[in-house]
Amino acid sequence: MQTVSSITAMQRLAKKWQRAGEGIGLVPTMGYLHEGHLSLVREAHKRVGKHGHVVVSIYVNPTQFAPTEDFSKYPRDLKRDLKMLRECGVDVVFTPKDSEMYPDRSPVPTGYSTYVVEERLSQTMEGASRPTHFQGVTTVVAKLFNIVQPDVAVFGQKDFQQAAVIRRMVRDLDFPVRVIVAPTVREKDGLAMSSRNKYLEGDLRRQATILRRAIDMARAALKKSKRIPLARLKADVGAMIESEPDARLDYVEFFDPDSLVPVAEITSGVQIALAVFVGKTRLIDNERL
Ligand code: PAJ
Repeated sequence: MQTVSSITAMQRLAKKWQRAGEGIGLVPTMGYLHEGHLSLVREAHKRVGKHGHVVVSIYVNPTQFAPTEDFSKYPRDLKRDLKMLRECGVDVVFTPKDSEMYPDRSPVPTGYSTYVVEERLSQTMEGASRPTHFQGVTTVVAKLFNIVQPDVAVFGQKDFQQAAVIRRMVRDLDFPVRVIVAPTVREKDGLAMSSRNKYLEGDLRRQATILRRAIDMARAALKKSKRIPLARLKADVGAMIESEPDARLDYVEFFDPDSLVPVAEITSGVQIALAVFVGKTRLIDNERL
């Protein structure tokens, strides 16, 4: 396994593989890896086959964090990440530097001034709560696509809206990349794996299962009565979240999984997505009902 930090070195390697007709799979991450990330790596390996190459990028992307968010304290452990990826049979770990990705971006952005903005799917939910988030995500993913030149890129359903926004960017801007979305990997008690789970200390870790329990409650309610008015189920989910002393609902939405358009009535096949603060940690989850 190689670690590559230079953008031109990564591009050169990608070109070499392409000339040899060897497929490239990319798994973009921000590191502090867990089994959810590794499941994406395995999926990438399956997609590119034994002559293909899997690249995992590890980059805590500053442009997708608001100034009030956890960029500087986002968990990092490169040594541990590299060990996990080596055991997974990854070819290259791409670890770019801020100074190369966004030269002189701050305080005055003289060296970097181009962003990719998706204008429709990114407006609701995560985009409404975190207004500059998706512009940072689409920009960095577009850059990673230009650097690694993957045939296939694998994302997790855990970030459902992110995957939808990236799919749309790929379609709209004609990136020659196949986007694969792999299922959410969960802890035994149902909590969706996330690098941010590290922040959950003591009883907060138990309280965090409220996201999973709320989704299960919505599904059980739908099993009983095939159609539920939106306001009623939203209120029930809200009340359930607030029943945990340190949990606060940021949003819960019910929408069509393809268009992300909200529904007025909840029926089978609708997607539920929610964001909840547990203590100071903001967690998200989603599933199809
Ligand atoms: P990060 O949060 O590190 O996640 C990297 C990838 O792993 C994303 O596609 C995410 O959906 C997926 N993932 C996270 N938890 C998962 C779980 N429990 N099961 C399955 N997949 C999971 O998402 C990002 O980084 C960034 O926004 C990024 C796309 C790298 C751009 O900076």
